[in-house]
Amino acid sequence: MNIHFSIEEAVRKRYSVRNYLDRPVEEGRESELKAFVETLDNPFGEEVFFHYLDSKSLGDRRKIGTYGVIKGAKQYIGASIKAGKMALEALGYEMETVMLHLAQAGLGSCWLGGTFNRKGFAKAMDIADDLIVPAVSPYGYVAPKMHGTESLMRKVIRADHRKPWVHLFFTDDFSSPLTKQAAEEIAFPLEMLRLGPSASNKQPWRVLLKNGVWHFFEQRVPGYSAAFPYDIQRIDMGIAAAHFDHSAEETGIKGHFVLDREPELALPEHMEYAYSWVRE
Ligand SMILES: Cc1cc2nc3c(=O)[nH]c(=O)nc-3n(C[C@H](O)[C@H](O)[C@H](O)COP(=O)(O)O)c2cc1C
Repeated sequence: MNIHFSIEEAVRKRYSVRNYLDRPVEEGRESELKAFVETLDNPFGEEVFFHYLDSKSLGDRRKIGTYGVIKGAKQYIGASIKAGKMALEALGYEMETVMLHLAQAGLGSCWLGGTFNRKGFAKAMDIADDLIVPAVSPYGYVAPKMHGTESLMRKVIRADHRKPWVHLFFTDDFSSPLTKQAAEEIAFPLEMLRLGPSASNKQPWRVLLKNGVWHFFEQRVPGYSAAFPYDIQRIDMGIAAAHFDHSAEETGIKGHFVLDREPELALPEHMEYAYSWVRE
């Protein structure tokens, strides 16, 4: 991977942009984005495919329907996977890395996992039938003002808020919150994770430190994924891994993800183990 920008800056700059200028992203910048995407990989051992759609091939906009949520966008990037144990996490990890890259380049983006016509996009992007398209994102120049639905959505979802540390990070068990002081150097990657986007801003990620290993869990919102043939919140878990991993790497903290270190622990209701991170 070729990350040549400040993760912290990109994390703080990124937000969901739903209103775009009419002006398309120039060819040179688009090629640069595609070249960056080519360098991506993920720690979950699953392949993620990227697809592009531009104004020329957008055709009948109704077919790719973004239901009035996205306005003015001329270009889209989509990500697809084959069904696999960690495929959704892998997609979350790689696609969020793209979003950070776009933010750093001064371009807007917005994760769309629900408010888009999945079949219409898959067809317009010419995506093979055996691939799932869990998310797409518009990208482009940000319009100076949010549109009405956009402002309203942000208010309803409380998009500018994030849960505090006490609700997200723990040590030994889920009744003992982890303080920033106790997290020491890992406080920075955890803070970057906390600022990340998630579907409907549900922030399902929980991290628990036990015997020196960092364990990541998903606090599932019951029924939230009922409209999907998969658990959409697992994409959020991949986003969390990207923010955590890139910021650890940026500060020279070495470590790697493992999938088989689930700790013995009493879990609160709807809490599911995702993966662990071991410092080297
Ligand atoms: C996996 C995923 C799916 C999302 N799907 C949609 C969507 O379908 N429509 C939409 O308008 N926003 C969608 N969002 C954007 C979230 O609502 C947004 O990230 C969250 O409210 C936090 O706001 P922010 O991105 O501006 O920080 C999605 C985000 C994620 C991570």
